[in-house]
Amino acid sequence: MTKEYVTSERRLLHGGDYNPEQWKDYPEVLEQDIELMKKSGVNTVSVGMFSWTSMEPEEEVYDFEWLDQVFDRMNSIGGKVILATPSGARPAWMAKKYPEVLRVDSLRRKQLYGARHNHCYTSPYYRSKTQEINRKLAERYQNHPALLLWHISNEYGGECHCNLCQEAFRGWLKARYDNSLEKINQAWWGPFWSHTITDWNQIESPSPIGENLVHGMNLDWRRFVTDQTIDFYKNEIVPLREITPDIPITTNFMSDNPEFIPFRGLDYSKFAKEVDIISWDAYPAWHNDYEETYELASKVAFINDSFKSMKQKPWLLMESTPSLVNWHQYNKPKRPNMHYLSSMQMLAHGSDSNLYFQWRKSRGASEKFHGAVVDHDGSAENRVFKEVSQVGATMEKLSDKVVGTKRKAEVGLLYDWESDWALEDAQGFGLQTKDYPQTLQKHYQAFWEKDIPVDVISKENHFNEYKLLVVPMLYLMSEKTITRLKDFVAAGGTLVSGYMTGLVNESDLAYLGGWKKDLQDIFGIEPIETDTFYPSDSNKISYKEKMYTVKDYATIITNKNADVIGNYLEDFYSETPAVTYNKYHKGQAYYIGARLEEAFNQVFYQDLIDELNLSPILKVDHEVGVSVQGRKVDEDTDIVFIMNFTEKKQTVKIEHEVLDVLTNEMINGKFALEPYEVKVIEK
Ligand code: GAL
Repeated sequence: MTKEYVTSERRLLHGGDYNPEQWKDYPEVLEQDIELMKKSGVNTVSVGMFSWTSMEPEEEVYDFEWLDQVFDRMNSIGGKVILATPSGARPAWMAKKYPEVLRVDSLRRKQLYGARHNHCYTSPYYRSKTQEINRKLAERYQNHPALLLWHISNEYGGECHCNLCQEAFRGWLKARYDNSLEKINQAWWGPFWSHTITDWNQIESPSPIGENLVHGMNLDWRRFVTDQTIDFYKNEIVPLREITPDIPITTNFMSDNPEFIPFRGLDYSKFAKEVDIISWDAYPAWHNDYEETYELASKVAFINDSFKSMKQKPWLLMESTPSLVNWHQYNKPKRPNMHYLSSMQMLAHGSDSNLYFQWRKSRGASEKFHGAVVDHDGSAENRVFKEVSQVGATMEKLSDKVVGTKRKAEVGLLYDWESDWALEDAQGFGLQTKDYPQTLQKHYQAFWEKDIPVDVISKENHFNEYKLLVVPMLYLMSEKTITRLKDFVAAGGTLVSGYMTGLVNESDLAYLGGWKKDLQDIFGIEPIETDTFYPSDSNKISYKEKMYTVKDYATIITNKNADVIGNYLEDFYSETPAVTYNKYHKGQAYYIGARLEEAFNQVFYQDLIDELNLSPILKVDHEVGVSVQGRKVDEDTDIVFIMNFTEKKQTVKIEHEVLDVLTNEMINGKFALEPYEVKVIEK
């Protein structure tokens, strides 16, 4: 059972990762930090992420006094502590004495001690040791008034291929396939290249040195990695649920950089069910030289909305940088006002916090040049500190209105980890141009540019809550998902899908006998062939008297009983259907057969927005690059963020009178937004 998350004081959290264990030899630093926190409006710190050596310097010798001080000092200023369990990194003594805690990589190389995020998820010793240290933490701080939230480990990810994990994988497979090797061989298409398994011991996790070409197995391995990671997490939280049943639990999720797509290593739609509140770490490369600022803003919004939609609840931004990171290809500081703007964007999309990595810049090792609220100068006068303080002041003002409020969407965009994994693995199409998550980003952007809120949902969400469901490139589709989509349309929903959808089942086995009959019924067509393009190839379609360019993929379609609303214009399938519309019971379904330029998405989705009467939270006239998003406070009130993600001054227009929450002035009509400026409106 997960818990309802409530902050005890109903306030937005401002603060972030704090590593006082690095400063134990500098006793004056804690006092300076507390003073600086007060100045910058910081009310929450996350501690303990990588502190195991400081908590247990020798086996079963503990030291929590330094942590007591942090709790007490935070409490003395009315602040809160997010307490992390330290499993993300471990003491050297432990690795030396119990080497099973160290990971084995896919090349079967045992890793040496060092770095972090590199432990075995199966090791019985590591599991019992994490429970033990977590129990100590829970016992010690259970009644401390500053304890707000548990932060389990740090950015779980990666995989281990040691013998313990191999055995666990086999156990997982036995459970999934009812102990039947026959079933496994069917699911993995065993006889292909003589890959039939005749004994459980023959099963080994996928490895590049074994050429992992058994797609069904690869998919199961990825599922196992997610499940084993969740299992490790569940093991960590046992003592916390027991001793601190009222303290909610989170673990910090991520995105994949630099493309800013959903993190591919774990199926977060599964993991989300196990945490009380979603939190994630956002590190977009603002001001890069390969995309417009607003395009990146749309990608950030996409991930935000995916985390928001997992629980349909506010979430926490657990980490972000106040200025720069140290691990991008080029580590460029945020330009003036970008930190403020990007922090407001988080609130606009449902975050109840802006937390940073990190509060104080470390002095040595790999993160000494990573951005922080407090730089090596220890000053409250520099640009970064001042902008952080400005964020703090605004959050203080908005707390009452915003915290705990919801974001409602009428559009669902379906993203599926399993489909992504299977499609990436598929040998076919264009090996470099499958771009499933990137394609979803583009569909999302079409709505974002028009300020239409979108939920980025999984195949298990309730579809019926949406007027419009957009399901591009859902390559892997179980019969269950097909039935759910069919029911959604039959009941009156509008479905958009298209090329490469519904080609394989949940074992990555191709469907036989043509496209699934249910899909044919919903869309009124049958896709027959996929034409894959070389990068210099293209085609065109006509749609509503305009021409649009096709790149990468075109599906050749046999029409059954759909209306053809777009035709190909070139090649041997010229004049055949490219975009179709079908009425199905009370609903309707569109099939977009080709990967089309963005201009098509804009026109196509604008038509649907009009037809389905989808509306933004506030109607604001503006050019591309301004984003209007927000949260519903109650039936009559919305808090709206009007954000300029461009380097130009923008003129925007609102028809009704609204209140500028930060200046307390009424505004309407035309007004200007400076580059990166944001206005917070109540309507
Ligand atoms: C995160 C991590 C933090 C810190 C940060 C730097 O991925 O959780 O501990 O290393 O990156 O950007």
